[in-house]
Amino acid sequence: MATPAPREPSLFAGVEPLEVFVDLLSEIESGATTAEFYHRICEAICRLTTMRRAAIFLYDAGRMRVRAVGTHGISFARLAKLRPTLEDAPIAQRALAEDRVILVEADMIERELPPDYAKLLGITSLVCTPLAAAGHQYGVIVADRGEGEFELGDGERHLMWTLGKTAALAATARMATRQQERTRRLGERIDLAREIHERVMQRLFGVSLVLSAQQPLTDEQRERCREEMTGALADLRSALERPLAPVAYETGTTLRAEIARLTRETGLPIVLSWPADVEVPRKLEGLTQSILAEAVRNVRKHATPMRVDVCVKRDEDTFELIVRNDGVTGSRPGGGMGLRLGAFEALQHGGFVEFGADKSVEPHGWRVRLVVPLEGALDA
Ligand SMILES: Nc1ncnc2c1ncn2[C@@H]1O[C@H](COP(=O)(O)OP(=O)(O)O)[C@@H](O)[C@H]1O
Ligand SMILES: [Mg+2]
Repeated sequence: MATPAPREPSLFAGVEPLEVFVDLLSEIESGATTAEFYHRICEAICRLTTMRRAAIFLYDAGRMRVRAVGTHGISFARLAKLRPTLEDAPIAQRALAEDRVILVEADMIERELPPDYAKLLGITSLVCTPLAAAGHQYGVIVADRGEGEFELGDGERHLMWTLGKTAALAATARMATRQQERTRRLGERIDLAREIHERVMQRLFGVSLVLSAQQPLTDEQRERCREEMTGALADLRSALERPLAPVAYETGTTLRAEIARLTRETGLPIVLSWPADVEVPRKLEGLTQSILAEAVRNVRKHATPMRVDVCVKRDEDTFELIVRNDGVTGSRPGGGMGLRLGAFEALQHGGFVEFGADKSVEPHGWRVRLVVPLEGALDA
């Protein structure tokens, strides 16, 4: 195939690429699929440079694989079928290690690329551009002018390098947006699970206790079970509708107020230890309140305590909430959801929840402990 006369990148090439990529960035939150996004970057590269075909390969560190994620001017389906590793492609390794654009002469292509690729691309010079920014190496952009040999001027080499940086930034921004979206969805699912757990499961638990009694049910018990089941159904319905409405993340109360309220309302022998100079970081209010609520619910469900200790602590690096009780009554560990949901929620703040028998409390102690690192939570 004859190589078309190259268009020299214009003097204003520095501005146009920026515009094109600003366009791309503004679409990051739109619903374009990953492939569409990378196809568009390849297309932009071909539009802004003398290249006719371009493909983006990303390195997937988890699977230690390289895969084609977008192309322009060459069949994506065919490229995506190939399964290269970074070791197969010394040119990509070199471009990334040296952070520079590398031109492979046509007669070297078989040595620099895996054989499948060389066959698919034909005899061609090839430009390999690192896709790396801010210390992250994502992959490479491979581009050429269609089959045939060509040279690469300094201007265009620099332009390719800049495009590689800009594309890497666009990719970073896109990944960050996706990650945020996933975190938000996970948060919503935890809210939903918690709501079902706190309302529906507690009702069903009550019903199952009544039903597992040995004696026949009285009319009153039967009526109570019916009411609880109806209540559980209504709770389920409202919980399922909830994610469609905006979610209120603020609880509208504080850990301190919740401890006071629960002490009052449950009549549990709660003993509070909370040093005067310790405050709950605002970001952790919701988390601490939900762990407290679950711990107290558990005390009522699984113990008949003489004493329940609630401790709030904070040092330079961590915030802690501990709830301890004695008087554990035949608990059957393993089945529950409440503490696991709490642990999930803690994870979202970089913290953890530990729980289990507490030998330091006699008789039959139990402990739940929430620990959250304070970095970043301090100024919340
Ligand atoms: N305060 C407690 N005293 C005794 N056992 C407890 C206490 N809290 C939790 N447990 C045990 O840990 C298990 C897990 O708790 P959780 O995840 O809240 O589930 P659930 O309360 O729904 O059973 C409980 O089933 C119970 O066996
Ligand atoms: Mg529970």
